[in-house]
Amino acid sequence: MTDRSREELAARRGREALAIRRRLVAHLAAGGTTDFAAAPMEHSVEWYTDPAWAAREVRELFLERPLMVGLSQELPGAGDRLVFEAVGRSVVVVRDESGVLRAFRNMCAHRGAKLVRPAAEGRGRESSSRITCPFHAWSYDLQGTLRSVPGAPAFEGLERRTRRLIPVPVAEWNGAIFVCLEGHGPLECARFLGEFAPVIEQLELGQFKPVQSSALQARTNWKYALDTYGEGYHFGTLHASTIGVTHFPNVAVFDAFGPHWRLNFAARALAGLVGRPESAWPLAEYGGIHFLFPNTVLVVGGLEGEEAFVRAFRIFPGATPGEMSCQFAVYARGITPEAYRARFGVDDSRSEVTEEDYRIAVEAFANLAVAPAGSRLVFGRNEPAIQAFHRAVAEALGAPT
Ligand code: FES
Ligand SMILES: [Fe+2]
Repeated sequence: MTDRSREELAARRGREALAIRRRLVAHLAAGGTTDFAAAPMEHSVEWYTDPAWAAREVRELFLERPLMVGLSQELPGAGDRLVFEAVGRSVVVVRDESGVLRAFRNMCAHRGAKLVRPAAEGRGRESSSRITCPFHAWSYDLQGTLRSVPGAPAFEGLERRTRRLIPVPVAEWNGAIFVCLEGHGPLECARFLGEFAPVIEQLELGQFKPVQSSALQARTNWKYALDTYGEGYHFGTLHASTIGVTHFPNVAVFDAFGPHWRLNFAARALAGLVGRPESAWPLAEYGGIHFLFPNTVLVVGGLEGEEAFVRAFRIFPGATPGEMSCQFAVYARGITPEAYRARFGVDDSRSEVTEEDYRIAVEAFANLAVAPAGSRLVFGRNEPAIQAFHRAVAEALGAPT
């Protein structure tokens, strides 16, 4: 990307940051209003607990749609690889010699062994011009072609060409990597991002380097876990001593882009801007919660100047409606991963705020699982992002909204 287009993206971020801030300050000036949905939205408890819905979600939202698996800088060089595991599938993504990403089922064509194990936390990235099976050492090139079979005479007569890795659709788009676990044909990122594409493009995800990653599992429904990222109504109570200290509860601006959305909460510092002319406001840093349907939450924040971070939460259904997992990763731009860690310490999926949210989500799911049939829950007008999420899920599954 040229310096000029990078400048243009930075200018676009600056304009949007100011526009978002204007709306937040207007809410504060009005005494603490927030963006509203048209009406409260009710839905049944079974929406979270019914195994039939859960099975359809796995198939139609997670197997047949593109999912974001990481950022380009996780695989900067030829032979670099990452393993993506979700909803029972394991995929290995590699960068080939020409710089193109390829993805394969993480399954050996000999007897199905897992070829590459997920990198252990803290272990550096792995790179090699071959993918070699840990079972009997069959070895594949970065195009997935079988290149070497130890004890080859034992396989005489076997058509080697047919023994190759099974490809999985993969695409790299503006610094983000997507796969479709059981998709066919090429992945059209710009098409499924739709109106959200320019918003994701302006994040310049290609500039972000991985800082750390971790994972957690919880006994709750994946949608319930996701809901906790989509409203600030609970900041004053559940997060009274954490994010509630730095942010106003129940003051947010919400923008929908098809099934995707962006949400910004009001930092308490913004109260100082009420009644002051815009010309006296400090520079607004672009940020916000960027939700990529169906499961990815990118919390974006500007630090100083060029410095910015992305905290990614990718939420997946587990084996039953009451199990989920979250893959968490931090990325930074304009600051080295080492400097970021030194400045902010370990930021993992078990941060205080996440713990607070997941505890509620687990306890609530235990209630929902035994609630009287026909019980209904409700999202308020002040929870437009969650309303949008559930509407988008329902629409994707052809469920009544
Ligand atoms: S299963 Fe992979 S080499 Fe045997
Ligand atoms: Fe929360």
